[in-house]
Amino acid sequence: MSRFAYVNGAYRPLSDAAVHIEDRGYQFGDGVYEVVLVRGGKLYDFEGHMQRLGRSLSEIEIAPPVSDAVLKMIIKRLIRLNGLRNGIVYLQITRGVARRDHKFPKDVNASLVLTTKHLQVATETNGKSAITVPDQRWSRRDIKTIQLLPNCLAKQAASEQGAFEAIMVMPDGTITEGSSSNLWMVSDKNTVITRPANADILNGITRLALARIGADRQIKIEERAFTVDEALSAKELFVSSATSAAMPIIELDGHKIGNGQPGDITMALRAAYLNME
Ligand code: PDD
Repeated sequence: MSRFAYVNGAYRPLSDAAVHIEDRGYQFGDGVYEVVLVRGGKLYDFEGHMQRLGRSLSEIEIAPPVSDAVLKMIIKRLIRLNGLRNGIVYLQITRGVARRDHKFPKDVNASLVLTTKHLQVATETNGKSAITVPDQRWSRRDIKTIQLLPNCLAKQAASEQGAFEAIMVMPDGTITEGSSSNLWMVSDKNTVITRPANADILNGITRLALARIGADRQIKIEERAFTVDEALSAKELFVSSATSAAMPIIELDGHKIGNGQPGDITMALRAAYLNME
């Protein structure tokens, strides 16, 4: 399934869907994206993703090609066309097509491309392993840009070591986030800690939902940076993203986290998130 893509106004079979070779997304990575989870045919946290998309676009001065309401209609139609019940919608907006020149072109319409992918996020999980890598990204990680080369290098390093995620570390020893996720630790006092959302990290929409869920359940949430050493001695460690919900990290750089099993707080947050109405 997932046979259709949406490209600039048309729903096309994936094999025919194409953008111009002078699209600035292709040439400069000049664009932004969102990944929205779909469960049981329902879009998860859609408003949150739209808000972050609007922010990313305005930070790099791209005018939205369509309104949020129209975008939602396009997404719903693509979901229907592809018979998607469980999976993700990938949405990308670039500055558009222009002769190659670094500065912004004038009077160019932004390009909008959408695809879907089947993916089942189960409540049950045995947890995953992760490695640490240096964070080699730029200083505006709050913008969800399609320029993901450092993230791809990090994820590839993890994959080559049989790990699920690469956790990125600043020169000062603090962790920023995963290559495609936010990182959380649970302290021995059961405080759930995650890095504050400033330009150092992408403010995950799942991160925001989990913080809300935690607060509703009287779980103490603290926003502060933490080091690799703290993460290694944490009671629980987990990453969050639209594609992984809250995923227990049971091993970091070959060291067992806690008792080496998914932790209670992580699994409670995961279940609550996946049961979200
Ligand atoms: N990535 N940090 C980074 C660097 C990410 O790429 C992502 C998500 C997140 C979590 O954001 P959210 O909770 O809104 O998914 C944090 C998506 C899933 C991706 O690139 O595929």
